[in-house]
Amino acid sequence: MTEASAPQRRIRVTDFANAKLRQQRWAMLTSYDQYTAALFEQAGVWSLLVGDSAANNVYGYDSTLPVTVDELLPLVRAVVRSTSRAFVVGDLPFGSYEAGPSQALQTAIRFMKEGGCHAVKFEGGVRVTEQIRKVSEAGIPVMGHIGFTPQSEHQLGGYRVQGRGDAAARLLEDAHAVADAGAFAVVLEMVPGDLAAQVTDELAIPTVGIGAGVHCDAQVLVWQDMLGLRQGKVTRFVKQYANLAEVIAGAASAYVADVRDGAFPSPTHTFGSASAVAGGPPAKPGPATTSGSPAAGAAS
Ligand code: KIV
Repeated sequence: MTEASAPQRRIRVTDFANAKLRQQRWAMLTSYDQYTAALFEQAGVWSLLVGDSAANNVYGYDSTLPVTVDELLPLVRAVVRSTSRAFVVGDLPFGSYEAGPSQALQTAIRFMKEGGCHAVKFEGGVRVTEQIRKVSEAGIPVMGHIGFTPQSEHQLGGYRVQGRGDAAARLLEDAHAVADAGAFAVVLEMVPGDLAAQVTDELAIPTVGIGAGVHCDAQVLVWQDMLGLRQGKVTRFVKQYANLAEVIAGAASAYVADVRDGAFPSPTHTFGSASAVAGGPPAKPGPATTSGSPAAGAAS
């Protein structure tokens, strides 16, 4: 998908529905901060997911289970504030919707009012259809999420492909239940490619694949995985488009060496003092150039 094919205004659920009719694929990425949000939008990413994967990728937890609504909402606000076209989806964390439709609606309302996002996502098929119905009927678009659902990793026995063999019928049932309950799209995570193709064919709403093959209507990846920021073993379904860990580590090491060797700051990075007097006291340090201080180059 090129940037030219993306609407030059805030994308809406109707754009996703029309894209499905036109068989136009679109891309989604996670984002949890202003810089990636703006860059991904400029690159033509239609939708940004402020995923509960912020648990692992922002907060340093070892699963998605601990992250809370209060930890996610500031990230949602940052992503919404930094974009003008991307459709921003807020992910309801574990414990914030399972108790029933009222709990799901209350949490979804917080995401819309306090986060400013354009839709919410939560995990589960048949078991959360009442929640999906309640939230959609309140006017809040819901993205479903079936197949491997990380919040249920302990029940599912770890990160495993879902829907193989006899489990395929259950996955199809989940997919139809989510769509019938009013979801506008559904994430299929770690689902065999042929089953994801069948779901995509049978549902009127778009499917968003992650480890579900090329036949989904859209694709989503966690940005730290696809840009190689997260170190360690890469899951089979992730394609790495860059190695940011190497770039950042290399740049940080060069900075450390420059500071140690006195090569940074050089005269070009140093403010001169008009009042310096030969033999006088050393010049006071110039203004800091980190955030909140005047822009670099504003004074010399
Ligand atoms: O939180 C997340 O990043 C997700 C994606 C894996 C779809 O739910």
